[in-house]
Amino acid sequence: MQVILRNIGDCNIRRAEPSDLISVMEINLKTLPEHYSDYFYESLLSELPEAFIIAEVAGKHVGYIMCKTEFGFSNFKKLGFVKKGHVVSIAVIDEYRKKGIGNALVEESVNGVKIQKCDEFYLEVRCSNNEAVRLYEKLGFVIKQQLNAYYRDGEDAYLMAIEFD
Ligand code: COA
Repeated sequence: MQVILRNIGDCNIRRAEPSDLISVMEINLKTLPEHYSDYFYESLLSELPEAFIIAEVAGKHVGYIMCKTEFGFSNFKKLGFVKKGHVVSIAVIDEYRKKGIGNALVEESVNGVKIQKCDEFYLEVRCSNNEAVRLYEKLGFVIKQQLNAYYRDGEDAYLMAIEFD
């Protein structure tokens, strides 16, 4: 059964299902330089379905976010060991950007990692990706670190994180 989380106009924001994964991979190939194996997509969906979210317009996939959970040192507390959500990848196809879909995908993934009792949520983003950095800042993420040459092409990343109450 499909779990629809909200609508933005004619766009459904819903939990992903196994049959969505091919379309997610296609969007990823079109929009981002970082790609993953089929198995990796499947494992993220089975491990954290609450934060693997799809945006769909009239049966066409237009965006996704997928995440995982980890235990590790807090990005906020000195010496704290916490459960963290981690955004692995998010994208909205070009024609559907600037309609609030990216914002909704991140908000719903925040709800998803909270269901899994995460204390914090973090992500990496290219320092040059102003649109994405602005989106995350609007949702309360803060830049915690700059990771040198994080990407294969040598570009630095910002590590951005948000702490839950
Ligand atoms: N009318 C006009 N503008 C609107 C709007 C509307 N109805 N709804 C939202 N917007 C604006 C937002 O205010 C925001 O503006 P800002 O950049 O000036 O702050 C902008 O549109 C983007 O917000 P939103 O629509 O929620 O995001 P999006 O759907 O465009 O998706 C990304 C954002 C980053 C996911 C998208 O640009 C993308 O897929 N980029 C390529 C992949 C990528 O970089 N992924 C991130 C890797 S970390």
